[in-house]
Amino acid sequence: MRANQQQLQAWNGGESVHYVDHADRYDRQLAPFADALLAHVGLEPQHRVLDIGCGCGATTLEAARRVRRAVGIDISVPLLEIAADRARAASLDQAEFLVADAQTHAFTVGSFELVISQFGLMFFDDPVSAFRNVHSALVPGGRMAFVCWQGLEANEWLVVVGDAVERYTDLPPLGGLAAGPGMFALKQRDETAALLDAAGFGGIEIEPLSPSILIGGGGPADESVDFLLGMGMVRGLLGRLEPHARAEAIEAVRASLAERHEPGVGVRLGSGGWLVSAHA
Ligand SMILES: C[S@@+](CC[C@H](N)C(=O)[O-])C[C@H]1O[C@@H](n2cnc3c(N)ncnc32)[C@H](O)[C@@H]1O
Repeated sequence: MRANQQQLQAWNGGESVHYVDHADRYDRQLAPFADALLAHVGLEPQHRVLDIGCGCGATTLEAARRVRRAVGIDISVPLLEIAADRARAASLDQAEFLVADAQTHAFTVGSFELVISQFGLMFFDDPVSAFRNVHSALVPGGRMAFVCWQGLEANEWLVVVGDAVERYTDLPPLGGLAAGPGMFALKQRDETAALLDAAGFGGIEIEPLSPSILIGGGGPADESVDFLLGMGMVRGLLGRLEPHARAEAIEAVRASLAERHEPGVGVRLGSGGWLVSAHA
């Protein structure tokens, strides 16, 4: 079977719809992570940058403004169409987008000084070969920096949903590499370090990154609730409940977010990720 078949279907089907409909909201919600990642990686004009799982391209485009070439790759055709439209609209000729699977794509060996990724490296069915393949794309001594999520419990914006669901049923075990591809696959710092080591990376550093984020990028509380309820992980958690319980859980989420709404700003909640860096 082709690598990452389930993810390929998801990101060209169900998972892609919410991203396509709300690309700008996702970017605003995740802006603290993008800012931290790009500040950390140290972009320089001569760099060639590979952005893996670039989605609608926010981080690729921001990198392209500062370097000579930025290539975003992703398995999602609909998300990359948005990325390419955005590059054209901004006349960013240094940005390129490629439909490709980072686990299997035949990168030109040693063709990038930097690899970056914002939440795009947690979805491989064979993480060691995927990271080895990514490693091959880097020049010797080239650097990789990415952000990934800590566990649900470190993400207040999802705990709100988890707590509402747990009134009715236990939460499933979520994440870690053994659980397979998914949002929380790289939630365990030690596992991620061992994975990168096995894939040939050195100088591995993993720091917590815990910004507050504006749910749905800000705006009225109802819009934030609707955005949150449309996210894949949240749909999955609520989908475990019978319709009556689900309706009550949604009301509980709505009430929690309304309490946290800052007028004129939006709903701001805590989040927890890892900022991971390593070199080839
Ligand atoms: C959570 S989204 C992040 C998108 C974007 N970086 C952002 O921050 O908005 C994860 C992205 O990884 C992509 N992806 C998943 N598996 C991939 C793979 N094997 N190779 C390349 N991209 C992949 C998905 O299609 C999706 O666009």
